Amino acid sequence: MPCRVVLGGQWGDEGKGKIVDYLSASVDAVVRFQGGANAGHTLVVGGERVAVHLVPSGVLRPECEIILGNGMVVDPLALRDEIAGLESAGLDVRGRLRVSTAAHAVLPYHKLQDQLEEQRRGGGGIGTTGRGIGPAYADKAARAGLQLGIFLRSEAEMQKRLRAAAERKLQLLRTLAPDVELDVDAMLEEVLDGAAVLRPLLCDTALRIHELLDADKEILLEGAQGALLDLDHGSYPFVTSSSCTTAGALAGCGVAPRDITSVIGIAKAYSTRVGNGPFPTELADGDGVRLREAGQEFGTTTGRPRRCGWFDAVAVRHAARLSGFTELAITKLDVLDGFEVLRVADAYRCNGETIRHFPSDSDLLGACVPEYLEIEGWSQSTCECRSAEELPAAARRYIQILEERVGVPVRMLSVGPERDATVAL
Ligand code: GDP
Ligand code: IMO
Ligand code: MG
Repeated sequence: MPCRVVLGGQWGDEGKGKIVDYLSASVDAVVRFQGGANAGHTLVVGGERVAVHLVPSGVLRPECEIILGNGMVVDPLALRDEIAGLESAGLDVRGRLRVSTAAHAVLPYHKLQDQLEEQRRGGGGIGTTGRGIGPAYADKAARAGLQLGIFLRSEAEMQKRLRAAAERKLQLLRTLAPDVELDVDAMLEEVLDGAAVLRPLLCDTALRIHELLDADKEILLEGAQGALLDLDHGSYPFVTSSSCTTAGALAGCGVAPRDITSVIGIAKAYSTRVGNGPFPTELADGDGVRLREAGQEFGTTTGRPRRCGWFDAVAVRHAARLSGFTELAITKLDVLDGFEVLRVADAYRCNGETIRHFPSDSDLLGACVPEYLEIEGWSQSTCECRSAEELPAAARRYIQILEERVGVPVRMLSVGPERDATVAL
């Protein structure tokens, strides 16, 4: 049975949640494998909008098991609140959610550290989501983190480990901000309250995923963020702290390359980025404003306006190569309705040279000027289209150009936020 990976092919917010929800109709389990509550995935069904941050986007499908894999960093308080919100909307979450004992805890002091480090970076900050993601992954790599399995220990042991970690961190934070305060007792009380919700959900998720694979179940691995925010392959340091590629999916849930049957890259029909860092096709003009308004480009997690620009085939080619996309899903095609002319970057002008690859150095990327293809737009609405034949000829041509320039077949189009506003090609 298939084990498919769904990944962001740009700078995040490509519509992964919508596509994962759509694909989950026939899926037995959806697994998140990296990132944490920095993600914000939006699902819209029958006019009802649900935003998930930690919980996988299979949550609206009652038969679907939902799993948080070992590669994630999980804030027990954020998870407790997210579960409460979803359950109060009538969804069963805890009956089918499993969380890895090996995932790392994001604790209140990680959020504090995230904020203090951003303040220290001043105007040149990364523009993080403030969810403690970088500090939690840093502690994991430094072997100073706490895995969620800690919450299966005795109350006394949990208290001791949490208190020791918080006090060590507080000493470190005082070197960044001498006046910083952290009420360790209050933190312990709150975290243990979150832990009570988490405890019954904890298990060895890698083992569970292999049981599902052995039983021929269908699994979807749901990426967060996007390839261009990848810790190794994005424009460092303007990246997130996890691996957003197929390699991250393997490590973050404990499956092997041979288990993967396809890799679906998601890309918007244009580009957006939230937070700082180079963005070659960014539009500072009226077209950028038009994309933001038509696409409602405001962050799901932080509400920040997203920076908008034309589709960047150089960037998506890079993403496709890193992860081995076997197919593409292009989302938000409807947002381009009514543009007379569309542009697609197929190369960059960089230090007097034309290059077709995505530079790994962020200063170099910042110096790149896109070389655009100009493509005729369409005036009709695509919102109601449900087959390739119903699309305007110019929209079909646009998709064909994306497919050619990225070098990966487009198998799915999205023409609205609703689950059924989807065209299978
Ligand atoms: P994710 O993080 O990749 O899951 O994406 P987000 O949910 O953060 O951002 C995508 C936004 O676009 C959400 O508000 C979706 O409801 C919306 N969306 C998804 N697909 C489409 C589409 O095809 N057309 C339009 N207009 N909106 C879409
Ligand atoms: P989804 O899963 C878009 C960006 C932040 C910042 C950088 C580092 O919804 O696509 P972090 O808090 O991770 O340390 O911030 O990464 N970022 C995202 N941008 N979508 C996301 O997630 C993001 N998660 C992080 O804005 O630039
Ligand atoms: Mg998002």
